[in-house]
Amino acid sequence: MDYPVLDTQISPEGRLDVLSKAEINKLLDTSHGGLYTVFRHCTLAVLNSGNALDDGKELLARYPDFSISILLRERGIKLDIRNAPAIGERLFLNTCAQCHGSDAQGNKGFPNLTDKDWLYGGDPATIELTISQGRHGIMPPMGAAVGTDDDVRNVANYVLSLSDSAHDPIKAAFGKPKFAICAACHGPEGKGNQAIGAPNLTDKIWLYGGDIDTIMDGINHGHNNTMPAHKTLLGDAKVHLLAAYVWSLSNSGGLEAEQKQNK
Ligand code: HEC
Ligand code: HEC
Repeated sequence: MDYPVLDTQISPEGRLDVLSKAEINKLLDTSHGGLYTVFRHCTLAVLNSGNALDDGKELLARYPDFSISILLRERGIKLDIRNAPAIGERLFLNTCAQCHGSDAQGNKGFPNLTDKDWLYGGDPATIELTISQGRHGIMPPMGAAVGTDDDVRNVANYVLSLSDSAHDPIKAAFGKPKFAICAACHGPEGKGNQAIGAPNLTDKIWLYGGDIDTIMDGINHGHNNTMPAHKTLLGDAKVHLLAAYVWSLSNSGGLEAEQKQNK
């Protein structure tokens, strides 16, 4: 069986200058009496947290190419990690892929988790909350409130115009005033509202589809979509790991890039 692995570099937050050069050399010394083997095993055990496996020998056998080295930087150190257990990815494949796809790109009704377009918000804490407590996206059937079938078609054309998708401009102009009842949730400009999971309608990213029939059907029948809560099933530690994994899918520069950006 293949176990997914990943390579990464980690910089400690703030300064980490507690290790002397001599100590670092000891940690990296692979000779008899050096600490490298112990260091490697301990790190692997830490990286395995959140995994059900509790057998040290089996763990070492699963990740034979795992390595960790310390890179000396001008200020402090960096850890270079190779072929480390990708626990988040494994958890995702086991628990989430059935709905979101093994590439996390979603499907009709199941959001793409890789595109930085969020129904509820894409910061780590919000993602964690979504996974832990679940979400329930509800749009009531709006057909009656909008009016006749023609009115529904007009407002659907207006929706398509918001993202510059193919639409009939005359129908869209007729539909525009009707959008006032949609604005309560989708916002006056149709940019959505993450507090209730109302999608942004201006971005050509569709949860259900960007054709006139799908949009009219949604207006007429509404939507009722559930992301199950996972807190009880997985526990807080795994939910936390998964949140980090999901966040990383659309932040490939990683935490370091994010931290730089925030400085
Ligand atoms: C039974 C199907 C199902 C499973 C299993 C599932 N999800 Fe979801 N997930 C959904 C649906 C449906 C939504 C959209 C809910 C909505 O429309 O309000 C969603 C929404 C989300 C969102 C919010 C996306 C956004 O744009 O804000 C995240 C994050 C997420 N899921 C992550 C996960 C993770 C991680 C797992 C595995 C622990 C998982 N999901 C398992 C069905 C599922
Ligand atoms: C009470 C709040 C509410 C109102 C009012 C509302 N919507 Fe929605 N709408 C939502 C939510 C929430 C979703 C996401 C449903 C889901 O998660 O499955 C949604 C989804 C949609 C979608 C699907 C978007 C996609 O990416 O596929 C379209 C299109 C849409 N709404 C258009 C409208 C139009 C047009 C109106 C007015 C006639 C309207 N909505 C009124 C809350 C609302």
